Amino acid sequence: MEKTIDQILQQDQFTKNDIVRLLKSEGKDEKALFAKSSEIKLKYVGNNVYFRGLVEFSNICKKDCLYCGIRASNSKVNRYDIADAEIVKAAKFAHEHRYGSFILQSGERADKQFIGRIENLLKEIKKISNNELGITISLGEQTKETYQRWFNAGAHRYLLRIESSNKELYNKIHPNNKEHSHETRLECLKFLQEIGYQTGTGVMIGLPFQTYDDLANDLLFMQKIDIDMVGMGPFIEHDQTPMYQYKDQLMSLKDRFRLSLKMISVLRIMMKDINIASSTALQAIDPLGREKAIRIGANVIMPNITPTTERANYLLYQNKPCIDEGADDCTNCMEARINMADGEIGYGEWGDSKHYKNKH
Ligand code: 5AD
Ligand code: FES
Repeated sequence: MEKTIDQILQQDQFTKNDIVRLLKSEGKDEKALFAKSSEIKLKYVGNNVYFRGLVEFSNICKKDCLYCGIRASNSKVNRYDIADAEIVKAAKFAHEHRYGSFILQSGERADKQFIGRIENLLKEIKKISNNELGITISLGEQTKETYQRWFNAGAHRYLLRIESSNKELYNKIHPNNKEHSHETRLECLKFLQEIGYQTGTGVMIGLPFQTYDDLANDLLFMQKIDIDMVGMGPFIEHDQTPMYQYKDQLMSLKDRFRLSLKMISVLRIMMKDINIASSTALQAIDPLGREKAIRIGANVIMPNITPTTERANYLLYQNKPCIDEGADDCTNCMEARINMADGEIGYGEWGDSKHYKNKH
């Protein structure tokens, strides 16, 4: 006889089929899943929510991912690159507002000048914050040597989504060339872990061709590589990208949203002490999306503190929230939102992944 959802939720380990059942759960089963993950979250990571001030400092990108609005071939994008002084100013803002840490993100580049520039920026941000601000970077695929240089300069966390752990699916959503290889991405994650970064990954949920088995395998993959942080959210089609052609084959936005919540919930049960971000894409679908994710398992939120003039040009997907808000507005709004979700903001703390600490 088939196990009930309640029976599955009692187990210590989930098989792929268990995960698929949980991801498909509805009604009272879905409620039981969310209740379990909320309970586990409070028990293992508490109700603190950590802020990561996010600066998307440039949308210049050498990659051509078929889903992404700032892909190199999208000639409709106004490309920008925020001056270093402005980036440092944003870091000061994050530090003064006692954000746990700071995230530097941009399109992917790997030229010598860029690598050196990031190294200097990292050192500068460490300096102006008296070493108090934690720094996460999310700058795509690089050589091990580059990752090491940036680590030595002061970055201690790195985000690199695997996008999908299924190689065939990965190949369908990226151009078919050496620049976009699943193996390289896996290797990069390995490098980051070897160097000692708190390493984060994630996937998009509701992609065309993606199955429930794929999503279950994504969660098992995160568990297998023993990741410290995860940020994952719904795929949202962008009309200036090739993947827009599949828009009629996708599940509804509402269903992608719900499935994303269930992914977060199941992952929290599987990996109890990791950091899970409530992705901005959730809020693009539901105005209270990020708060809902916090209730059921997420414990990190990334307020956008990119200088407002450039926010509208960093549209990886459409309907992105917060592109008109100044950094101050965002902070106030986030506070109210987190309180609404019964969370507490972990001000002035790095909010490191407990999982990483427990391992080291
Ligand atoms: N919808 C949702 N997420 C997207 N990303 C890029 N394009 C989209 C999209 N259209 C995500 C990718 C990437 C992260 C920075 O943004 O997962 O790793
Ligand atoms: Fe940015 Fe509300 S979170 S304005």
